[in-house]
Amino acid sequence: SRTINLAVIPGDGIGPEVVAQGLKVLRAALPQDVKLETTEYDLGAQRWHRTGETLPDAELEALRQHDAILLGAVGDPSVPSGILERGLLLKLRFAFEHYVNLRPAKLFPNTRTPLAGRPDIDFVVVREGTEGPYTGNGGSLRTGTPDEVATEVSVNTALGVERVVRDAFERAQARPRRKLTLVHKNNVLVYAGHLWKNTFDKVAEEYPEVTTDYLHVDAATIFLVSQPERFDVIVTDNLFGDIITDLAAAIAGGIGLAASGNINPAGTHPSMFEPVHGSAPDIAGQGKADPTATVLSVALLLRHLGHPAEAARIEAAVSADLAERDGARSTDAIGDALAARVSA
Ligand code: NAD
Ligand code: IPM
Ligand code: MN
Repeated sequence: SRTINLAVIPGDGIGPEVVAQGLKVLRAALPQDVKLETTEYDLGAQRWHRTGETLPDAELEALRQHDAILLGAVGDPSVPSGILERGLLLKLRFAFEHYVNLRPAKLFPNTRTPLAGRPDIDFVVVREGTEGPYTGNGGSLRTGTPDEVATEVSVNTALGVERVVRDAFERAQARPRRKLTLVHKNNVLVYAGHLWKNTFDKVAEEYPEVTTDYLHVDAATIFLVSQPERFDVIVTDNLFGDIITDLAAAIAGGIGLAASGNINPAGTHPSMFEPVHGSAPDIAGQGKADPTATVLSVALLLRHLGHPAEAARIEAAVSADLAERDGARSTDAIGDALAARVSA
């Protein structure tokens, strides 16, 4: 019998609330012959207040030993902005080479969209996860003076761009519509923009069946709202991908439904699954958070670990649950309903 050795980082705010439901549904979905072993890691705001630590090396090494990581959210108003985001979340994405940040956007039945009618929304964003303006390459001169200068340099390597572009072509090739859109801003960010565009065009030659398109990121936000059916797979850099996936969530049922996987495709380090949303301090501790994004992230986790049938079962349960959802339900009630459907 097989065992999934899962690391769990509940984190801050609504993180622990939604992770509890994700684990509930994961347990319900697992086949008899697969065992689940979970190890919880106490990382996040409380830990930082207690010890000043965000992610010590010993815990990074311990996390490395797991098959996968499930993360809730990090970030808290009581901690200076960036400490946990950079010192914990981004540190994990960088250390474990999560260069594919996979963020599907699919409009489920009976879900809310601010767009008119029932738009056809079924695309996936392949967001680069280890480079761009996220690398911490920058600094501030004459800090706090009227002459302050702040830089935040976007780092883009040929290797880093090519590996994520290639992954996106593979994903586009495997989907019925076989369309891949590169989103960047090469009319202004000419150095990184040209590396991305040249790499995209070069790799495209190996995928003649994939239809390609290019959009500047500003125009992409127009079409995400006016013609979302235009998109099948999108590949983009770390920061553009962050921004357009919150927009994608907003048009496809809301941020409470948006799932993500930080994937290390080579399998050299564990991949990490988490909702797209953050710690939502405005609703934390009230049982109001929608755990569906975390549950759908668990489905991505199962598919990644080679359990596609169980992943599909969870997605079908979410779909059926949403079809019948009316009025507000607590975090727990949604988790219970999904777990019941999955085990039925
Ligand atoms: P957020 O995603 O936490 O919240 C934005 C809005 O969406 C809030 O109104 C919130 O209540 C709502 N929301 C989020 N998740 C929801 C859910 N599951 N159900 C219902 N409503 C939900 O973004 P923010 O307010 O910009 O950030 C708050 C903190 O979270 C910050 O510290 C930020 O750095 C951090 N953050 C962490 C992650 C992560 O851990 N992956 C992601 C984004 C933001
Ligand atoms: C996300 C978040 C993170 C990001 C932050 C918290 C570092 O917004 O996962 O989308 O920008 O990637
Ligand atoms: Mn984000």
